[in-house]
Amino acid sequence: MKVTAINGSPRKNGNTYLALKRVCDELEKQGIETEILQVGSESYTGCRACGACAKLGKCAFGDKDGSNEIAEKLAASDGILIGSPVYYGDINGTLKCLLDRVFYSRGRDFRFKPGAAVVALRRGGAIHTYHTINNYFGITEMIQVPSIYWNDVHGAAVGECEQDEEAMDMMYAIGRNMAYLLKMKEASNVQPPEPFTKTKTNFIR
Ligand SMILES: Cc1cc2nc3c(=O)[nH]c(=O)nc-3n(C[C@H](O)[C@H](O)[C@H](O)COP(=O)(O)O)c2cc1C
Repeated sequence: MKVTAINGSPRKNGNTYLALKRVCDELEKQGIETEILQVGSESYTGCRACGACAKLGKCAFGDKDGSNEIAEKLAASDGILIGSPVYYGDINGTLKCLLDRVFYSRGRDFRFKPGAAVVALRRGGAIHTYHTINNYFGITEMIQVPSIYWNDVHGAAVGECEQDEEAMDMMYAIGRNMAYLLKMKEASNVQPPEPFTKTKTNFIR
């Protein structure tokens, strides 16, 4: 089994990375392969709402900037971790551009995969950022991994989050709980419900 983690921070080995690493260390300890993808230092444009992905099954622009490759890795994984630094009370811009396109074009391939959000910040905006990431999980029928708090690690300079011992315990808990869900799924013969075409109503009056 494999879990792929996305590091949205432009700081490759910063606090978001260290938090994700703590989750991944526990997963690895339990025999689950992990990979952390460094996306925050790349350039992605936002979704252009061209709608081509509905026919192509992938983002029309994603072969150029590597985002389709990331989407493919997530689709091939058993679990997904998404980590973001808090920027102005929300996920950072690069990550938002990437996630909008990846989830809009490939979200149907993430159904019932366990997913967990991880956020790194200095002081304020953690819960909103956590909810932002969970929005992607919720709309694609992913399973939100339970934790013992709301998955935030505190620190400003690189490495400071490691002094936030409760947060690092939280990361360990995410790893443990995700491993448990993955093993439960693997051991089960129960198949997830088939996707269906929903009625789409717009709020136009
Ligand atoms: C542009 C920018 C905006 C930020 N906005 C916030 C914020 O709204 N709230 C906060 O607590 N920290 C904020 N920070 C601090 C970072 O979230 C914090 O340093 C975090 O640990 C960075 O994680 P990283 O090391 O993975 O990059 C901001 C940092 C930058 C560069």
